[in-house]
Amino acid sequence: MVDVLGLGLGLTLVLIVVALHYSEGTEWRTPDDISQEVLERRAETVAETDFPEPMNRSIGGGGGAVAVGGGAEGELEGEDDEDAGFDPAAISDDEVEYFDVEYVNEGETIEVANNETLLEAGEDEGWDLPYACRQGQCLSCGGKVQNGDATEYVRHSNNETLGEDEVEKGYVLTCTAYPTDDLALETNETP
Ligand code: FES
Repeated sequence: MVDVLGLGLGLTLVLIVVALHYSEGTEWRTPDDISQEVLERRAETVAETDFPEPMNRSIGGGGGAVAVGGGAEGELEGEDDEDAGFDPAAISDDEVEYFDVEYVNEGETIEVANNETLLEAGEDEGWDLPYACRQGQCLSCGGKVQNGDATEYVRHSNNETLGEDEVEKGYVLTCTAYPTDDLALETNETP
């Protein structure tokens, strides 16, 4: 009697296991790249900015990243405003003006046109002035306007080196600085 009961129970268990084995479960497929999917979903929740990828949509940065980006953008715009779009080659003949520039260290005052750099004008006098890139990308040609804020006396066609505060203190890149007023210049001066 006990054997028959045990046999029945055993048989039932075997049937259950076999049934489970052949039954269809719910299918779970792992995406090829979960991390990518998560990144894309997070990216959708972050506002667009004008910054190039990947900075404009920092994952995990959220509002903070956007706020920081916004501030930086403002600064860049501020920096660019001063000389943005200044192209000395576009100055026509009847727009050329001359200004008295005193080269303090050289002990002379010469006339410099507003389409001529402070460096070129000095070199034309035969002075051995310092320079390297001649494109506003280093500091070798640095000089200082003695009158004060250089933005009131020169325009830079390119300035990738001096900060706004340094220019306001009078520093200029003579290789890309064009006079807009009479001024006194100390050559070979850097911040
Ligand atoms: S020579 Fe490099 S910035 Fe003028």
